[in-house]
Amino acid sequence: MYTITVIPGDGIGPEVMEATLNILRASDLEFDFQEARAGYVCFQDTGTTLPDETIEMAKNSDATLFGAVTSVPDQKTAGSILALRKALGLYANLRPIKSYPGVEAVYNDLDILIIRENSEGLYSEIEEYTEEGATALRVITRKASDRISRVAFEEALKRGKTRVTAVHKANVLRKTDGVFREAFWKVAKEYKDIDASKGIETDEFYVDAAAMFLVTDPHRFQVLVTTNLFGDILSDEGAGLVGGLGMAPSANIGDNNGLFEPVHGSAPDIAGTSVANPAAMILSACLMLQFLGEHQEAFKLEQALINVLKQGTFLTPDLGGASTTMEMAQAVRKIFEES
Ligand code: IPM
Ligand code: MN
Repeated sequence: MYTITVIPGDGIGPEVMEATLNILRASDLEFDFQEARAGYVCFQDTGTTLPDETIEMAKNSDATLFGAVTSVPDQKTAGSILALRKALGLYANLRPIKSYPGVEAVYNDLDILIIRENSEGLYSEIEEYTEEGATALRVITRKASDRISRVAFEEALKRGKTRVTAVHKANVLRKTDGVFREAFWKVAKEYKDIDASKGIETDEFYVDAAAMFLVTDPHRFQVLVTTNLFGDILSDEGAGLVGGLGMAPSANIGDNNGLFEPVHGSAPDIAGTSVANPAAMILSACLMLQFLGEHQEAFKLEQALINVLKQGTFLTPDLGGASTTMEMAQAVRKIFEES
């Protein structure tokens, strides 16, 4: 039995979450889903975007599923997802860029993994006003750079990838990205020394060049590892290559916890209309199952979604269909149940 903290959030969050839970309830595994609150609507009701209770529940469960939240429109209240990543020590953000059949995309054969450092960089939230304007502090530590580089090599080994690429801007950010790239190459050398037979190639790109090659020649990339903001930007770019944010899942991983969320936001413009594509949330649940070590179940769930995408009968409007969020999820559930 797995205890899962479920944070639907607001906007389309609750819709894609309910669709996904509906599928997971058909699993052979047993889940105890415990609902917790966060986000804008929670803020309106309770005065906080992230109640302590939610943090405690997430800390004490086997994994957390997070839907989407709307940002509070003031400059003082930190976003609840950032606060949660911090509170749970989720230092690695795994963002697969994967093509799926039946989904209109720029490329139909991509399977790249972006590994985004998730705890520091320009997300340190250390900003201040100055006389001229404002400054932000870009914190890069050897510890976090070393740690995220290791995640990249471990994930490459796990997934049978043969190339790990570091992305930075060390020609300008000479000190901060100097520390990042030095840590990367040190870890790379360790992995070469430990087991050269695994034959993982390593290289590096400046972030601007990486952004271009992602569009013109993405097949040169397998695993990309980068700092926080670069990873944020490149992962949206990558999603754009494989059908958009509706298809992009993510995993936030730390030493003790894992939180799984679609890359998309709360999309208030379509909230409540039952047209949100549940695929990114379903694929985030796949990442959760992998994290729990339930690889067979993760595979079954992804295959069920692939079948629905291939059939093309029960798709949301963004995928060219006319089905609702729940109708598409029902179709996935049916195949998942029977497999
Ligand atoms: C993401 C989002 C968040 C981020 C925002 C909502 C703070 O864009 O998960 O990519 O920048 O990390
Ligand atoms: Mn983002």
